[in-house]
Amino acid sequence: MAPALPNLTVLGHPLIRHKLTLLRDRRTSTRDFKQLVSEIAMLMAYEVTKDLPTEPVEIDTPLERMTGEQVSGKKLTLVPILRAGLGMVEGIAQLIPSARVGHIGLYRDHDTLQPVDYYFKIPGAGEARDFLVLDPMLATGGSAVAALTALKAAGVRRLRFLCIVAAPEGVHLMLDAHPDVPVYAAALDRRLNERGYILPGLGDAGDRLFGTH
Ligand code: PRP
Ligand code: URA
Repeated sequence: MAPALPNLTVLGHPLIRHKLTLLRDRRTSTRDFKQLVSEIAMLMAYEVTKDLPTEPVEIDTPLERMTGEQVSGKKLTLVPILRAGLGMVEGIAQLIPSARVGHIGLYRDHDTLQPVDYYFKIPGAGEARDFLVLDPMLATGGSAVAALTALKAAGVRRLRFLCIVAAPEGVHLMLDAHPDVPVYAAALDRRLNERGYILPGLGDAGDRLFGTH
């Protein structure tokens, strides 16, 4: 049996599993790939935010006054890791329209597999907000670890990492580097190949999302 990964939650909702299978299929078009990434991200966000605190709020229905509920606390911040993380923003923003969005630009050097950073812009880093860091792929984990390190250096404390496909290698690196950050994935795949791609995975997420090669 695989060793337990205490930082990882696999969100195995049947709709997520169904859509992920379509996403992995090599015949899936760029248009459908984009749509599926967005839908999976939305379903994941629904589960990941189930512990958000709420507070009472007085409203008038057309018939009478009542006490309803609203999500309390600071607004959530979504931080996609460019490029592929961008595909996860729209679906989550549909559920949480008030969310702020920051951006971290990182690409993985093809030869060394090390992350190279090129952009960092986030809103309200010093405030006690919950940050959801988004990237469909957690492979070696280098990009995710670098993004979280940069966010912590900017003062962010409440972080969660959402990916669609995780490799055990990446989850372990995250556990070593950022044991305080929960990782949520739609699937934990087998392993990386010699070029750092996840098996069975879904290929290059950025290329499939944006139609590049
Ligand atoms: C992909 C993916 C992650 C990274 C994962 O991005 O979106 O950011 O690789 O790999 P790692 O866990 O080994 O760091 P890529 O570098 O291909 O950039 P792109 O999204 O701009 O195509
Ligand atoms: N980045 C991707 O887009 N896919 C992988 O399988 C690994 C890293």
